[in-house]
Amino acid sequence: MLVLDPDAPCDGITLEELLDGKEPLRHLMHDAELDGVIASEGLARASKSKSELLTVLPQQSHSIEDGLLKLSFAHEWADVPKPLSISLVVDASPGCGGLAWPAGQILASYLVQKGPDYVKNKSILELGSGTGLVGLAVSVFPETNVWITDQAPLLDIMKRNVLLNNLKATVTVAELNWSVSSLLPYVPEDIPRPDIILAADCVYFEPAFPLLVQTLSDLSDTSTKILFCYKKRRKADKRFFGMLKKKFTWKEVMDDPNRQIYNREAITLIRLFKIDAPKVLH
Ligand SMILES: C[S@@+](CC[C@H](N)C(=O)[O-])C[C@H]1O[C@@H](n2cnc3c(N)ncnc32)[C@H](O)[C@@H]1O
Repeated sequence: MLVLDPDAPCDGITLEELLDGKEPLRHLMHDAELDGVIASEGLARASKSKSELLTVLPQQSHSIEDGLLKLSFAHEWADVPKPLSISLVVDASPGCGGLAWPAGQILASYLVQKGPDYVKNKSILELGSGTGLVGLAVSVFPETNVWITDQAPLLDIMKRNVLLNNLKATVTVAELNWSVSSLLPYVPEDIPRPDIILAADCVYFEPAFPLLVQTLSDLSDTSTKILFCYKKRRKADKRFFGMLKKKFTWKEVMDDPNRQIYNREAITLIRLFKIDAPKVLH
């Protein structure tokens, strides 16, 4: 019998996720249409239409090689391997982050299309990285400085993926748990103030909404570039944006040619802007 664990990292995504925990690669093994890529929709609901698969993104393709998921992104940049490919260990046993979720693939694809100058010499911090895909993809560009972070159970899979892609020189894996009070030094000391914050598919578990907003706020100022890709799943997601608007404004990212494709899947890429809090005068 399956027992619900109230402390499981993604318990908002319920039974399907528990089944994945029992048999982590069940989508990869039993669903030819999913063909190993994703599992987000497999986790959330039974329907798996072709259009939900991100192989529809024109510059992106995937394959399974030796049990690893390989995602490849076509691009036009000189001095960057063509295509830019990231191999991933996917393993749902440490939590839903161990799978490559659509929003992560979309954000990775967007950043690859933006190219090396967009991230050059920037310190980049990804929240809720899961497999690390997004951070790993940008770190292939020269002169980047990337931190991929998540809760403790995901650290091992992220470290394996860093090694697998030979990106140890540019990527650091660190625990950054939004649940820890912002009064404590929960952001590892060696992480510099990020110039860019990335987050993909981090809106799914209501109790984490205020924690994520606080973490974004703690890590940013008005100059921080924050790219936030999310999938609308439930009415409750509105509550997240209700909390977010106390500290941030946002605009949809309009220069992604794939926007209409993923908008159809209720996925949106936005840029957040920290609101300049008025100084308290004493
Ligand atoms: C749906 S997964 C998305 C993973 C990855 N960004 C992607 O797009 O494939 C959500 C991620 O948020 C992480 N997460 C959830 N609650 C967290 C918390 N309190 N602190 C840090 N990470 C958290 C999960 O561990 C998981 O990796």
